[in-house]
Amino acid sequence: MRVCVLISGRGSNMESLIRNADGYAVEAVISNKPDAAGLRVADGLGVQCMAEPSLDGIRDILDGMRPDLVCMAGFMRILPADLTERYCVMNIHPSLLPRYPGLRAVEQALNDGAAHSGCTVHFADSGVDTGKIIAQAAVRIEPRDTSDTLAARILEWEHRLYPGAVRWYAARLAAEGGEAPTIRGRDLQMVRTAEPERAASHAVEMGAAYVRRDGDSYIVSAEKPTTPPYVAVVSGDGVGLVLERVRRLAAPDGST
Ligand code: GAR
Repeated sequence: MRVCVLISGRGSNMESLIRNADGYAVEAVISNKPDAAGLRVADGLGVQCMAEPSLDGIRDILDGMRPDLVCMAGFMRILPADLTERYCVMNIHPSLLPRYPGLRAVEQALNDGAAHSGCTVHFADSGVDTGKIIAQAAVRIEPRDTSDTLAARILEWEHRLYPGAVRWYAARLAAEGGEAPTIRGRDLQMVRTAEPERAASHAVEMGAAYVRRDGDSYIVSAEKPTTPPYVAVVSGDGVGLVLERVRRLAAPDGST
């Protein structure tokens, strides 16, 4: 699968997409800012780089390349509807959307006194951080957090989540024989969190969902995971009941 990445700045998510490419290849990086540090990073990794300030110019480059997927990675412009309709476009955002879209998302969560924030990978439409959610990772906000410390912890998860979401899309595309897959709304939602309470409440929100243990965190997904142990969560279960089942995932035998 051929991917084009759009950036505006440092490009750490772009770098993670390049370094963790598996089932896809980043063929080009386009920045709307000619002085973006990420351009030098991409160049150093041997990926074709371009600086193009205008959205019309970016459209022309994409039309010349026809990538299977466009990934916005800290790209601070809104793409027009004709582009998000012509191409499959993903974005990453440092909050648990739909909460705190737009600029200064980390500060918004802190100022709001939220207990958690995190990051979201979603399909992009022409709104501000809107579109179907693909994957989220929740991060607990600690009392002593500043926007810098919280942003840094969220960024660590961004770097894991985005390549995972792109690999997921590549697998779906391959399964459809290269045709853009039909996206079934909440079916593709996946949430990663270190906290069993949060995993349980997401599972209940998502209806029939599966929870899998992965190292220190739990992954909640609507699709049955290929790797056990997981607990199937039946739609309609209360959070308390689901929480019991999620907690049992941490038990030595690991499954229910
Ligand atoms: C990332 O935190 C990304 O989530 C955010 O900009 C940062 C870019 O960092 N994107 C948005 O806020 C989009 N609304 P990076 O250039 O190091 O990847």
